[in-house]
Amino acid sequence: MSHTFAQNIILWQRQHGRHSLPWQKTTDAYHVWLSEIMLQQTQVITVMDYYERFLNRFPTVQDLARADTDDVLALWAGLGYYSRARNLHHCAKQVVSDFGGTFPPNPEQLITLKGIGASTAAAIAVFAYGYPAAILDGNVKRILCRYFGIDTPPSASTDKTLWAQAHEQLITAVAARDIQFDHATALRAYTQGLMDLGATLCTRSKPACGICPLVNDCIAYRDNRTAELPLRKTA
Ligand code: ADE
Repeated sequence: MSHTFAQNIILWQRQHGRHSLPWQKTTDAYHVWLSEIMLQQTQVITVMDYYERFLNRFPTVQDLARADTDDVLALWAGLGYYSRARNLHHCAKQVVSDFGGTFPPNPEQLITLKGIGASTAAAIAVFAYGYPAAILDGNVKRILCRYFGIDTPPSASTDKTLWAQAHEQLITAVAARDIQFDHATALRAYTQGLMDLGATLCTRSKPACGICPLVNDCIAYRDNRTAELPLRKTA
């Protein structure tokens, strides 16, 4: 029998995905959270240095919570989108005051924190806690639109369809623990694999379909529509 979407992602991630990014060596929620916020609008290669410097200066969420905003902003200089740094500082204070210094494990609580949206909450839950949650960032949307041939323009309704698919595939990823992993490892590989596939193969222009683990079941590939999907916003 052929593999499911999730199985293909997991197997690909094991062989070809990234495994030695600094934030992959830890399940510390503070570290995972910091990396996910930095990675929201900045490339991996740039984030690496900033991430290490930030953790050296603020080793714990308590250190960050009691820092001066100016010091936080100074360490952020060059990463851009400075509202992220302000939100980050605010969030650290919330974690200390509302959660006793420990990031909560589930997305419903994580999303109440400043600067954490639905997809970031899910990524933190998965990477820090092995909690099953579906991510849906821009890269994942592109993968799902192509794979399932979703050809409606960006809208709240399209997002609803995409979230439903993201959840459905996550459920099969959880079931994929019977191929060679425990539950949390499968979840992390699946989530990281989606991110890596979107960043490296299923790119907006010139996707590398020839080496994609999903090509056999990809509707956009089958119908020769990878250049067209996902549809762009209509002006
Ligand atoms: N982009 C967002 N989160 C990421 C992660 N954990 N690894 C690589 N790229 C990412």
